[in-house]
Order: sequence, then C-alpha cells, then structure tokens
Amino acid sequence: NIKACIFDLDGVIVDTAVYHYKAWKRLANELGFDFTEEDNEKLKGVSRVRSLQLILEWGHVTKTEAEQEVLATKKNEWYVEMISHMTPAEILPGAKEFLETCRAAGLKTALGSASKNSMTILEKINLTHLFDAIIDGNKVSKAKPDPEVFLKGAEAVNVKPDKCVVFEDAIAGIEAAKNGGMKAVGIGSPQVLTEADMVVPGLNEMSLEKLRAL
Ligand code: BG6
Ligand code: MG
Repeated sequence: NIKACIFDLDGVIVDTAVYHYKAWKRLANELGFDFTEEDNEKLKGVSRVRSLQLILEWGHVTKTEAEQEVLATKKNEWYVEMISHMTPAEILPGAKEFLETCRAAGLKTALGSASKNSMTILEKINLTHLFDAIIDGNKVSKAKPDPEVFLKGAEAVNVKPDKCVVFEDAIAGIEAAKNGGMKAVGIGSPQVLTEADMVVPGLNEMSLEKLRAL
C-alpha cells in the first residue's frame, strides 16, 4: 500500500559528504584547527548553519552571527565549485535504477533534502526528470528531525504520510520520517540507523518486493 518514495539526496543518491568534508576542513584549517572524518559523520543530514556551529565548537572558536554568515558563505562557495564538476558517474549504485523501477510501478517519487544545492546536483547528475516533486533546503524552515521536508514532499505528490517511504542515510533523517508518520528505510548500517523499519547498504539492494514487505 506504499504510494510514494521520498529520497534524501546526500548519502542516498550521491556521495557528496566527501565534498562537504573537504570544504568544511579547509574552513577549519583556515581558522587554525582540524577535525576528523569521524567527526564529519556527525554533520550528515545537518543544515549548513548548524554544521558550522558544531565545527566552531570542536575548534573552541567563537564567532558572531555576522561572522558565521561570512564563513558559511565561504564554505558554500568552495562546495559549489566542487559540485560543479560532478557527473552522472557519481550517482550511487542502484539509485537511478530504483527510481526508474518505482516510477514504472506507478509510485510517486520525491526528493526531501536539507541541501540548498539540491537542484544544482540533480542537474549535474541528470536525475531531475525522475522526481515528481523536489523539496530542498530552500523550501523548508525546520531541519530534520522535524518532518517538514518529508511532509511537504508527500503533500506535493498528493500522498498521505502513512503511504510514504523515506530513504535516508542520517539518523536525524530517519527520525524525521518517523516523526512524520512515514516508513523509513535506512541506507547504511543497521547498528547506526536503529530506528529504521529496514536498513540496506545501498539502493542497489532495494526492490519492489522489499518495499511491499514494509
Ligand atoms: C545535507 C547534508 O543533505 O545538506 C549536510 O547531509 C549539509 O551535510 C546539508 O550540510 C545542507 O547542505 P547545503 O548544500 O545547503 O549546504
Ligand atoms: Mg543524507
């Protein structure tokens, strides 16, 4: 009885975490400190401003709101430069195929991402046409685990939340789906995404049979 699939972008469709990490690391280094790849995990699914605040905390650096604005913009410029070189080869295994499978089965597809750069990325990897609705960081005011982004996605494709499945790689994203009354499929490790209804390593392991079993 699932009628719509809502996909997070970063970490589900593409692995942009490496670019976010490079850009944040460069910013931290300019401020005179560093952070690890392990810390970077804590930034997954987290908004741009909140990510910066966490990084500044790790470096024991205090900045005014105006300064934070400047730093976040700087990071974003580096990030935008990096993603401008992305190609469809960077689509994660099985993502495009699963989107096509869903659409062929008559399911609605939507994007539900915190990123304000979602459209740029989708254009670069040539996937825009596979989404019936795109809800990104420009259209929401509340960050995951608030369900706003997914509820807006459900509304845009005219499907009730309990008929939606969300695909997410971040703990906050799984929580957001659950808070919205939706099913959640974790992309990653079951040890990390403990609240998900099902966890698969990637969309290449997903199928209509598994969807129906939810
Ligand atoms: C999420 C990423 O999808 O989008 C986060 O997982 C990122 O790492 C957030 O900070 C906001 O992205 P952007 O592109 O608007 O800075
Ligand atoms: Mg993600």
